Amino acid sequence: MSIESLLRERFSQAIGLAFGSQFANDPMVKPGDPKFADYQCNAALALSRQLGRSPRELAAEILRHLEIADMCELPTIAGPGFINVRLSTAWLSAQLGDLLADSAAKARGGVKWTTEQSTVVVDYAGPNIAKEMHVGHLRSSILGDVIARILAFVGHEVVRQNHVGDFGTQFGMLIRQAGDLKLDTGELPRISDLDSYYKQAAERDKNDPQFAAEARQAVVALQSGDPEALRLWRWIREESRRHCREIFALLNITLTQADERGESFYSHRLPEVVQLLSAALAFDGDGSRVEEARESEYVTKAFVTQSQGALCVFLPGYVDKDKKPLPLIIRKGDGAYLYATTDLAALYFRIIEDKTTPEETAPLDHNWHADRIIYTTDARQAQHFAMVFDTIRAAHWDINPVTRRPVVLQHAAFGSILGEDGKPFKTRSGETVKLRELLTEAVQRAETVVREKNPDLPVAARELVARAVGISAVKYADLRQDRTTDYQFSWDRMLALEGNTGPYLQYTFARIRSILRKAGTKLPPSVAINLSTPQERDLGRRILQFNDVIEAVLHDLKPHYLCTYMYELCGSFSSFYENCPVLQAATPEIRQSRLALSELAGMVLNIGWHDLLGLELLEEM
Ligand code: ARG
Repeated sequence: MSIESLLRERFSQAIGLAFGSQFANDPMVKPGDPKFADYQCNAALALSRQLGRSPRELAAEILRHLEIADMCELPTIAGPGFINVRLSTAWLSAQLGDLLADSAAKARGGVKWTTEQSTVVVDYAGPNIAKEMHVGHLRSSILGDVIARILAFVGHEVVRQNHVGDFGTQFGMLIRQAGDLKLDTGELPRISDLDSYYKQAAERDKNDPQFAAEARQAVVALQSGDPEALRLWRWIREESRRHCREIFALLNITLTQADERGESFYSHRLPEVVQLLSAALAFDGDGSRVEEARESEYVTKAFVTQSQGALCVFLPGYVDKDKKPLPLIIRKGDGAYLYATTDLAALYFRIIEDKTTPEETAPLDHNWHADRIIYTTDARQAQHFAMVFDTIRAAHWDINPVTRRPVVLQHAAFGSILGEDGKPFKTRSGETVKLRELLTEAVQRAETVVREKNPDLPVAARELVARAVGISAVKYADLRQDRTTDYQFSWDRMLALEGNTGPYLQYTFARIRSILRKAGTKLPPSVAINLSTPQERDLGRRILQFNDVIEAVLHDLKPHYLCTYMYELCGSFSSFYENCPVLQAATPEIRQSRLALSELAGMVLNIGWHDLLGLELLEEM
């Protein structure tokens, strides 16, 4: 259990004893202002509203029942009724000693396994194929990947899904364009430049009516499974996959080919899903209810109906700008299905379907029956996901068929990346920034930084370092931001050696490693941890708070908490290192204790940076 959870539990017991268990669930315990406390409990303030008594009085009552003497100093009441808690130094050093002695716990940085294991689908990256990945895919890819890594780290069964856009009418023109290659035998040539291939096809589609008509036919051919259309479509898809693999490898994204289930995978399921949905939600054949709903402004209960030829779901709570009920369209008048239909089918597949039959993409060895599904896409899709989630809730498709519990559906939305001018990030000529070019530039710029910092590094080593520094800087600059906000992309800021940046963290880590290398000897399993200086205490406490941070990240799906934590840990380490000689410590015991703290700090950074954020650490910079 994390320290925060442990304290929450103790406070909950005290509140239960003082006022009754109905008041005891989930008392507010959070990190305190470091000047006064390690943690603060605000429960008395919330209780005062419920109980109609002064918060300071309630706080005093809580303290009478609070049993934390084993781990904390005497708690104090501050301000209007906060309870401030400081961990005792003896408890901290005992905890650190235990961590060192338990090699399995140490290898996990003290992070506990979850006690409520569940199957979590993380739907991320999801680029649209036949186009190059651009900067808009950066956040979706890396946020989703970090969330997946952390869930897996604490012991959840994680199913990564790459919901690529690989189907739809635009493939007609792409296939038609490919048809001109007139290569009916053997390998098709490679698409060296996906974007210009797409642009050429779009250009012809616009200007050449004959081409456009044939492109429409190609869509029909593709949907009816025509072998030639399929062959050309597969070629386009293969070329796109090659491109995505390259980007994923550069970014160290853990998605594999087996995780790809794109729109095409669900395409043949759509008619059935629409039928099941119409059956599950009251189907209004003659459209009378929609007229009623349009008049009334309100939909009180979800239903499916035909509206102007299209099949629509109407849901309570969604209105357009004229305050009229806003439908979720699941089939257009011409019979075509939409993005939302595919997402409904994907949810059905992830939650309900028994996967006993081998499927085309990759055989599954077990049923998922997801307990939780997380999507990382940008905030502009918030309404799409809200409506899709509400639709399946209305149809009761969100009930896990095994546990009978509702599936947790979460859209981990994110803001935009802006240029330094505060406008959407574009190239000088106003085009979207291609991810590959962005990452190449990052490595080049990092090389300049590395050359300045360490001119003696041999060229081959410098190239490796530049790659690690450049890519990490871009990823870290993104991950350290609260995902819900926009941020400005700035090369100078992200590559700075000071501040909350990738290079600074990598540099601090390299320094820790160098100290440990110089010390030479391996630490014995049992070391008495001495926290007699404020810097040692601060570093030790931060190390033990790693588990708090992981819990918080998973609670809010916000990886930037982990970044802030690691930055602060590096700060604690730096002041420790400045004030507490390690290799030249006064006694062998203190030397050993300080080496142990350094090792644990390095361990936690290694897990956070490398295993969870998927970034590269360097022994030397
Ligand atoms: N291809 C979509 C896009 O580029 C993202 C897919 C996200 N996942 C999903 N299940 N809708 O916007």
